[in-house]
Amino acid sequence: MAQIRAAITGVGGYVPPYVLTNEELAKMVDTSDEWIMERIGIRERHILLEEGKATSDMATEAVKQLLEKTGTTADEVDMLICGVVTPDMQFPATANIICDKVGIKNGFGYDINAGCSSFLFALITASKFVESGSHRKVVVVGADKMSSIVDYNDRNTSPIFGDGAGAVLLEPDTTGLGLVDSIMHVDGSGRQHLHQVAGGSLRPATFETILRRQHFIYQEGQPVFKAAVSSMADVSVRMMERHNLTSETLKYLVPHQANMRIIEATARRMGIPKERVMLTITKYGNTTSATIPLCLWEYENELRVGDNIIIATFGAGFAWGSTYIKWAYDGSKFAK
Ligand code: UT7
Repeated sequence: MAQIRAAITGVGGYVPPYVLTNEELAKMVDTSDEWIMERIGIRERHILLEEGKATSDMATEAVKQLLEKTGTTADEVDMLICGVVTPDMQFPATANIICDKVGIKNGFGYDINAGCSSFLFALITASKFVESGSHRKVVVVGADKMSSIVDYNDRNTSPIFGDGAGAVLLEPDTTGLGLVDSIMHVDGSGRQHLHQVAGGSLRPATFETILRRQHFIYQEGQPVFKAAVSSMADVSVRMMERHNLTSETLKYLVPHQANMRIIEATARRMGIPKERVMLTITKYGNTTSATIPLCLWEYENELRVGDNIIIATFGAGFAWGSTYIKWAYDGSKFAK
């Protein structure tokens, strides 16, 4: 029997309408458009301002669009995994809430938190259900409302993050297309450099944790930067070597969008020219779990059957990895 692979058969995306520019941010903290563009490569980011709206609301928009595009009914979806670090609530899982809002009633789902690698780890996990033959229509979401944990008094972190959501549909393929191979890693000792101090079972919320601003992102930029550059490049180069991929045969690198300099260093190590690197960082910033599906959403029109792409991510944990995909459909059929 032919091997079953999990193929992406559609992509949906959503970013909220409000755009926070560098100029606007410079009125809130001591920074400038020049510094942010030079050191990070972000010009603006979308922020979910609407009162009472959460990560699941952005994800719901992305999933509804995905189902409409691919002609899939909510009843047909038999699983939904959500990669997320800013869930609507500690529990239940945001996946459950998305299923409820979309009307998915015949499946099951759960969340995966692997920092900025959440979507990739969710995608790889979901692919195993498809490859085993047990599930046929699996939705994988990457969504985050980073503005809910960003300290807009902290110039070290506030320029970096934005809000957004993306989703892909995974279906079985027996023609050799889909997810071919993955490399994943975690190194928990990296947690000291990037985390949210309070709000978990280690330091539950108290007046003191609020006064100390410990419910926001804590990041030591330099060690994270160094680890991101070496780790993302290592797994991507290893993936190219494992499958004899070259700069000529790889159509796109799809990197996590944390810092333009990290992306450029990874592409350089892989020998990939900039025009074959998916880039959304300048207009969306780092949307954490949403960066990869938003890249696929933006570049979908460019992708054709059989194209080789490598997704590479690095984030809090530390958690990082790469996946090699043979693209399964002509993206121009969904031209925006
Ligand atoms: O997605 C999750 C994974 N996260 C990442 O991949 C992030 C990795 N780290 C980075 O991208 C970079 O380290 C940052 C963008 C966070 C910071 O850039 P950097 O070039 O490493 O800057 P730095 O932290 O070494 O700071 C250099 C200087 C400092 O001033 P002094 O001490 O040299 O006077 C900072 O205070 O830049 C200053 N600085 C700023 N200046 C203007 C830091 N943030 C800002 C700012 N505007 N927003």
